[in-house]
Amino acid sequence: MANPGRIIAGVLAPHPPHLVYAENPPQNEPRSEGGWDVLRWGYERLRKNILAKKPDVLLVHSPHWMTYVGHHVLGLPHFKGLSVDPIFPHLFRFQYDVKVDVDLSLLIAEEGKSAGMTMKVMKNPDFRIDYGAITSLYLTNPRLDIPIVAISSNNSPYYFSNEVGQEEMKRLGEVTRRAIERSGKRAVLLASNSLSHRHFVTEPEIPEDMSHEHIYHHGQYLWDMEVLKMMREGRTQELMDILPEFMDMAAAEVKAGALTWMLSALGMPTYPAEVHGYGSVIGTGNAVVEWDHEKNGGAK
Ligand SMILES: [Fe+2]
Repeated sequence: MANPGRIIAGVLAPHPPHLVYAENPPQNEPRSEGGWDVLRWGYERLRKNILAKKPDVLLVHSPHWMTYVGHHVLGLPHFKGLSVDPIFPHLFRFQYDVKVDVDLSLLIAEEGKSAGMTMKVMKNPDFRIDYGAITSLYLTNPRLDIPIVAISSNNSPYYFSNEVGQEEMKRLGEVTRRAIERSGKRAVLLASNSLSHRHFVTEPEIPEDMSHEHIYHHGQYLWDMEVLKMMREGRTQELMDILPEFMDMAAAEVKAGALTWMLSALGMPTYPAEVHGYGSVIGTGNAVVEWDHEKNGGAK
């Protein structure tokens, strides 16, 4: 029998489009003078670790592909198009061209259905992949040459409650792990989330003018540092317990479920995560954090 598939790493991979804008890749139309360097250096360090592992597939769960009924996965082998951030179209108009691991997408849909979840496979060739997924994927692997699986977030945390939403995302994480094991693939999971998410509502004349950039307020900073401390000390179950309060107190983007999905798929790791970088973007708190599941014995 072929080797069972495994998750080799999980990543908290935030998606401010500003980070792509600052890198000036040829695919992005707007030009910049840089900015948000510490976070981008964090992504550089992450990238070295992740790409050295030679993953077969990158899975991304994004708050900006939000579905109202169940979870959707991409179901065609190739998607190409223009991804635009609706809030920052002057920063992010990105021509993407990605290959999809359809076999794994279908396994996730199948496992989800077996677990009683509502799943749908997206087969519209004109479907536009959201900027959150594209940003996290690009910053992790700028060549975009590793097949992807994109999973929609579900609106349950907003329709019902933080707690109901997190239970849903935990189930989705377990389903995703089972599908990866069946696939035989070496997989990296990207949780496309910021941490604290209160932000400024006016932009400086030069968006990358770093003299304007700082955390929205001290309380947001304290929350972010507490959450990162738990991650660095391997206290992920405790983190899960306080996450609903973090969502309410810091308007945290983890509410959409990507972090819970990823940590659930990893089986709530108890080893320390590595924080590669932390910084604010329009006042929101963002951290690039890696769980090296392979190195820490999590991927048998
Ligand atoms: Fe976002």
